[in-house]
Formats: sequence, structure tokens, C-alpha cells
Amino acid sequence: MVKDDIWDIKDKQQTQIKLDIFRKYLKAWAIIIGSYFPRAYFIDCFAGRGKYHNGTKQDSISGSPIIGLETAIEIKKMKQKKGKNFNLDIIAIDSNKENMADLENFIKELIPGNEIEVKLIENEFEKAIPNVLKMISNAPAFFFIDPYGIRGISKETIDMIINRKGSTEIFLNYMKMGIQRVSRQYKNIGHRDEKIRTMAIKMVSHMNKLFGDTSWADKNDKELLEHFIQQVFSKNYKFILNFNVPYPDRSGTIYNLLFATNYASGERIMKDIFTKKLFKGTLFEDCPFEVGFSVK
Ligand SMILES: C[S@@+](CC[C@H](N)C(=O)[O-])C[C@H]1O[C@@H](n2cnc3c(N)ncnc32)[C@H](O)[C@@H]1O
Repeated sequence: MVKDDIWDIKDKQQTQIKLDIFRKYLKAWAIIIGSYFPRAYFIDCFAGRGKYHNGTKQDSISGSPIIGLETAIEIKKMKQKKGKNFNLDIIAIDSNKENMADLENFIKELIPGNEIEVKLIENEFEKAIPNVLKMISNAPAFFFIDPYGIRGISKETIDMIINRKGSTEIFLNYMKMGIQRVSRQYKNIGHRDEKIRTMAIKMVSHMNKLFGDTSWADKNDKELLEHFIQQVFSKNYKFILNFNVPYPDRSGTIYNLLFATNYASGERIMKDIFTKKLFKGTLFEDCPFEVGFSVK
């Protein structure tokens, strides 16, 4: 295995915490939605390859699309025992060919005998979403938006998701460090050095797409997050939660996990998940635990 394999999360407990939160909430959501609807969708917008390594233990930790599939199998069986029919269909989008090929293989290992609908879309998030929204029509859907940085994610596409008809919940990884780094490029858009200027113009255009305009340009880090929530993420939602995931070894936040729901029960369940218990037995045990609630 190469040394800095991004799929090895042995020393990335922040990723394990994110997956833990996601697994717990998706299960709770599917149980509730499955009481009212025969079909719902989990849309994994930046799906990844499906499995992570834990050091030398290759492919030993499930990633988000496989957690989605495991949840769909578990809840289908649970509902069947109660005489109910419920299907959680999975749609996984990723622009990387190799990741999609790996994911397809991991899915094949789980699917036989389980009759879960899984659709893999090898494409960019922005290009895939309009068709995905047509495909799922008005059915309830849970969207996980988990990019590496800010490229390839725009306010326009998030608006499409937020404005769709049908119950829609979103769990989004706000890449704080990426956004901060890029926002500092603003001062370089008139730089004398062409290389620096070109890079800055490119970065600024990503930020403009993400925020929908240039109103982000004069904001500090805290203001940027609030602005993102107000301007991009919270429209149409009654409840927004923000969880600051800290660095294990220094002060500050690596990334923010944002969650949007219109249900008081959804907010309550996620609040129960976002507690200090998440840090137990991890490097974060002594880190400050910070969750912000409902920005509205
Ligand atoms: C952080 S990883 C996803 C991890 C995954 N959600 C998990 O928890 O297991 C981000 C993924 O997004 C993919 N990606 C990067 N740019 C993309 C884009 N514009 N559209 C769709 N996928 C993209 C990468 O190939 C990578 O697999």
C-alpha cells in the first residue's frame, strides 16, 4: 500500500467519527420513513470506493455507499418481520472510474439474495444531479454530500436538491480548511505574477459557484460558515445543526458536519448522536466538543 493512501483511515479518527454519525442517523431515518412510505432513496453524492483500509487490514471499514447498502438490507429485513414492505434504494455518484469499479465489486459481494436496488453513476455531482432528481421523483430522500474540497459543488445544484418536492434531508461535509484556503486567494486576483493570478481567478470562480455570488469575499472563517449556512444551505429548512470536528492534536476545526431537516424528530435524533460520546476511546477524548444548533 502507498504511504499516503487516502483510503487508509487508521490514523484518521475524524473520518471514522463521520462514518459513525452517518450510519447511526441513516438507520434511524430509514426506520421512521419506512413506517410511512414503501420506498425512499439514499443519494451518496461523492460516494468514494465503498471500503477503507485500517492499516494493513485492507478493505476492512465500510465507506458511505456500503453503509447505505448495509442499512437498506437491515431495515428491509426488519420491516419484513413486521409484515411491511420497505425499500431503501441507493444511488451512488462518483466521478472516479477506479473508485466506481471497486464499489461495484464490493456491492456484488453484498447484493445476492437481498434485492436492493443500487444505481452507480460514474459522473460529476453537478452533471448527475438533474437526472437523479428526475429518477427519484417525489420520494423521500437523504443526500450525503461529502466532497474533498469545494471544486465541483455549486449553490445552483444544492438549490435544486433543496427545492425538490418530497421530504429531503441533507448531511454535508463543509470542508472548512479548503474554503478558508481558497478564500485567501481573493487578494491575488490582480497579482502581477500571471501564474499566481490565474490560480487565484480559478479558485475565486469555485467560491463564486459555491456561494452563488461574491458576497463571501470579505468574510472571516466564522462568518464564512454562517454565510454558507444562511445563503446556501438553510433555505426551506426548519432545523440546521452544525458539528465542529476538531483536530486531535491542536486547536481548531478540521471540518464542519452540517445537517438539515424539517422534522423536529430528525433534529432530536441527530442531537442525540452529536454528543461527547462520539469521542469516547478516540484521540478526541480531551478535545472541546462543540455543536451549534439551528442557525435560523
Ligand atoms: C471524501 S471522498 C468520499 C468518501 C465517502 N463519502 C465515504 O464516506 O466513504 C470524495 C469522493 O468524491 C469523488 N469526487 C471528486 N470530485 C467529484 C465530483 N465533482 N463529482 C463526483 N465525485 C467526485 C472522489 O473520487 C472521491 O471518491
